Amino acid sequence: MEAYLVDWLSLLLRWAHLVVGIAWIGASFYFIWLDNHLEPSADPKLSGDLWAVHGGGFYHAEKFKGAPPQMPARLHWFKWEAYWTWITGFFLLVLVYYAGAELYLIDPSVMPLSKPVAISIGIGSLIISLVVYEAICRSPLAEDDAVLGSVMFLLLAAAAWGLCQVFGGRGAFIHYGALLGTIMVANVAHIIIPGQRRMVEALAAGRAPDPKDGAAGKQRSVHNTYFTLPVLFTMISSHYAFTFGGRWNWLVLVALTLTGGLIRVWFVMRHKGRAPAWPVVTGLGLIIVLGIFMSPGTEKSLQSEVKFHAVKSIIDARCLGCHAPKPTFQGLNEAPKGVLLDTPERIRAQASMIYSQTVIGKAMPPGNLTQMTVEERALLERWIRGGAKLD
Ligand code: HEC
Repeated sequence: MEAYLVDWLSLLLRWAHLVVGIAWIGASFYFIWLDNHLEPSADPKLSGDLWAVHGGGFYHAEKFKGAPPQMPARLHWFKWEAYWTWITGFFLLVLVYYAGAELYLIDPSVMPLSKPVAISIGIGSLIISLVVYEAICRSPLAEDDAVLGSVMFLLLAAAAWGLCQVFGGRGAFIHYGALLGTIMVANVAHIIIPGQRRMVEALAAGRAPDPKDGAAGKQRSVHNTYFTLPVLFTMISSHYAFTFGGRWNWLVLVALTLTGGLIRVWFVMRHKGRAPAWPVVTGLGLIIVLGIFMSPGTEKSLQSEVKFHAVKSIIDARCLGCHAPKPTFQGLNEAPKGVLLDTPERIRAQASMIYSQTVIGKAMPPGNLTQMTVEERALLERWIRGGAKLD
């Protein structure tokens, strides 16, 4: 019953997280697009305007230089999308990765952590990265965008590497995404929104707003823009064991962070009417290099005959506790993701998934809970490469 309720809670939280996340990132993409497409206006009060048609209506948006001559009665703010994304995301992190730390966070072959220690490191990593990020954004390093960008990239690479030395791949990836997401939401909550509020107050009092507030808000929204695609990658990475489950998982994070950032660079340039090919070529080139570097290879020697009964006894011992119609593993109501490995036909039907989950990536068994050996993984690999025969 409890596992059943947890499933519902997890579904509703994930659904909500996705919806508010789309609302947040959608609005953020829209405003960046808007800003970059404004056309010069004859009106000296305006820095630009733009006409658009959408959903059967015509829209005319104007951006003021500084502030409008008087404050409108109603001003729309965009912040709750961001806050709710973080809140739902944090609860999801707790429910999936902290309540289920043995499954998704801890991998004793990476580091044998106890549950409380693993959770403390997880939460600590979010707090520490926020503090470090704030410190460098307020330091002299921030005066030069290129310097700041490079320092930030190196620190993120260090975070990716560090998390992958402590947690199982899946937990490491989600924490990397969560720390970027936390920085992004903190930027909205502590810099962008308070800055805008001070600007509005200044206008209401007839004072000129402090240009520092506008500049800081702009700096942080630019960072958020470049973090977006890497964060979204980490959020879907749990479906791809070959990314988080391999030996070079931290490098995958670093490379895809760079690719995501570069693709965003290209979009922003394109909005402004100049789109040199280098950001996309470099970004996609990185994916190709990574793909080749991580490829499992196709050596013929691996394809020696393996008898199915040997495979079956490995699956029975290492997988069946969870992937059976009535799992014996505590807390599981039904076979995870509906993946059943209880009959020869079902095992064969799942061969390519078994390959990606246990050979290319070490996602299964989760945290190697059932202590699958290297030899057993090699045997599964030979069986699958040899055509996954049932005799
Ligand atoms: C301790 C329980 C447990 C054991 C043991 C276990 N699994 Fe899983 N397995 C899970 C869970 C939980 C998921 C769902 C993961 C998720 O939500 O992405 C899963 C998912 C899967 C999937 C689907 C992955 C996807 O992304 O759709 C496959 C395939 C799989 N396991 C294969 C195996 C194999 C092969 C073994 C044995 C070598 C194994 N599992 C052992 C718990 C287990």
